[in-house]
Amino acid sequence: MLRVRDLSLRYPTGKVALTDFSLSVEPGELVVVLGGNGSGKTTLLRCITRTLKPTAGGIWLGDTNLCGLEGEKLRRARLELAMVWQSASLVRRSSVLTNVASGALGRHSTLRTVFAGLPPAELASARGHLAEVGLADLAEQRAGTLSGGQAQRVAIARALAQRPRVLLADEPVASLDPEAAEEIMRLLQRLARSERLAVLCVLHQVELAYAYADRVIGIRGGRIAFDLPRSQVSREEVHRLYIHEAA
Ligand SMILES: Nc1ncnc2c1ncn2[C@@H]1O[C@H](COP(=O)(O)OP(=O)(O)OP(=O)(O)O)[C@@H](O)[C@H]1O
Ligand SMILES: [Mg+2]
Repeated sequence: MLRVRDLSLRYPTGKVALTDFSLSVEPGELVVVLGGNGSGKTTLLRCITRTLKPTAGGIWLGDTNLCGLEGEKLRRARLELAMVWQSASLVRRSSVLTNVASGALGRHSTLRTVFAGLPPAELASARGHLAEVGLADLAEQRAGTLSGGQAQRVAIARALAQRPRVLLADEPVASLDPEAAEEIMRLLQRLARSERLAVLCVLHQVELAYAYADRVIGIRGGRIAFDLPRSQVSREEVHRLYIHEAA
């Protein structure tokens, strides 16, 4: 589904943040990229969403190379990729349901949504997505009143409203307590399976990577340090690799 091939990125400052980086994520799979601060994790996700234009390499979504697209074609292709950030960044004074439904905006004409709002069917599906993340009861609550863990689940429901094929998450558990962090990882794993989403999640917690990933990829200095199926590696090995190869 998502294939990143030999990706390199040099910032205008001259800093080379990614070098020949490759990975694949299939539908139904949760892949974790594990790396220390400054290793290039966010840069990688920004390249995949084409917020940054890679210096070299390709980003394939099925048969489409995002690096070859511009303008409206790029905008449409990007709808296939939804992003969840470290902070949920919800509109605090809007209801939870409105926040979730806003994920569908990109699929509708701006003119229509400005004058007539989203079609009622989108609000119905937004309720469905809220139920999927276990928060159906909070639809009418103001988003500003949610706990960190709830807000992150709403951000995931908003990403689902976009109806993506790929879900990208940049340290989605960084500001959560351990229990809420486990819940978010469990949710990402379940959505990968039930929605056949290709999920790529950036983390720096070895334990979470080991517990939930189908593959664990280490990144160090913008390069691949290791890429292993979780079933073929022990927790100790992931720790060792992370400390010696990635962190
Ligand atoms: N806009 C920028 N201009 C120049 N250099 C940048 C820019 N953004 C990031 N960098 C550099 O690129 C490298 C990778 O940064 P990146 O933010 O991708 O790391 P990260 O793995 O996400 O780190 P963290 O765990 O702290 O979020 C770092 O050395 C960083 O200083
Ligand atoms: Mg980062």
